[in-house]
Amino acid sequence: DFIVCHITTVAIMVVSPERIRGLHKYEKAILVALERYMKRYEWVPLDSLMQATALSESEVNYRLSRLISWGMVRFNAVPYDGYALVFGGYDTLALTTLTKKGIISALGAKIGEGKESVVYEALGLGPVAIKFHRVGQRSFNTARVNREYIPETGCCPWLFASRLSAEREYMALCTLHPKVSVPLPIGQNRNAVVMAKICGPGLSRCRLEDPAATLESIIANVRSSYQAGIIHADLSEFNILMEEGKCVLIDWPQWMETSHPNAMEILSRDIGNILSFFERKYKLDYDIGEALRCVTG
Ligand SMILES: Nc1ncnc2c1ncn2[C@@H]1O[C@H](COP(=O)(O)OP(=O)(O)O)[C@@H](O)[C@H]1O
Ligand SMILES: [Mg+2]
Repeated sequence: DFIVCHITTVAIMVVSPERIRGLHKYEKAILVALERYMKRYEWVPLDSLMQATALSESEVNYRLSRLISWGMVRFNAVPYDGYALVFGGYDTLALTTLTKKGIISALGAKIGEGKESVVYEALGLGPVAIKFHRVGQRSFNTARVNREYIPETGCCPWLFASRLSAEREYMALCTLHPKVSVPLPIGQNRNAVVMAKICGPGLSRCRLEDPAATLESIIANVRSSYQAGIIHADLSEFNILMEEGKCVLIDWPQWMETSHPNAMEILSRDIGNILSFFERKYKLDYDIGEALRCVTG
């Protein structure tokens, strides 16, 4: 069960740990059934939920109204009454599983938010970070216009994309740690990745004492990653954290293989981003050709 470690920050969370701890077993059962039916329906009919959970209509309606008020489920009335899982519900399922596995015991404050993710601190064996991938949120909203039955293969795109994104990031971390300075991977379920929490500011926000050494260390890590067959593909000062003077490369879901036909182009873009940041902020003048040779040589 969840212990709330930062009461004051709970209010800003999408789905609070208290909420998850307080989930009734019928509510969990409905979330699980919804997740399963989302492979076939954009809006799951009430009948299917009653059948899957073996609960009465009034019980299912009552539980659904609670899940809707907590931002875990959405209702749609046209052309038939249907229900859909949304990110809050999917996050909840991931957290429930990670808790059952003993990977997470408490959820704390939000520590980051990006274009397609939200990151919280949490308690595992030690302090950890849990990143919920939220890919395709916008396309999901526009998809609501189309209320057709979705065939098995064409299932709910955001659900699939968010899980895939988490799986890809976890795979990269497992491949790279500890050869490359990345957060230690700890666990993964659905759209969530659990990893070591990095304590320190982003590269874009700090004032380095020895910028040349940091730049060289970043290039050395890009090289180690390249040697492991992986290119970050979204590298910039915003995806590097500084912990006790050491750089840590984060945010790996879009990584690509070095054998990819566009690998060199993407690698030069990554390195270019880093070099131009150091040029802008620290007036360090490094040659991109030389850096590229250093990484690939
Ligand atoms: N392991 C971590 N430890 C500490 N903070 C993290 C960790 N992972 C992510 N963050 C924070 O969350 C923010 C968003 O995470 P990131 O992986 O970059 O996702 P996005 O793809 O949304 O940019 C980061 O900028 C950082 O502030
Ligand atoms: Mg990022």
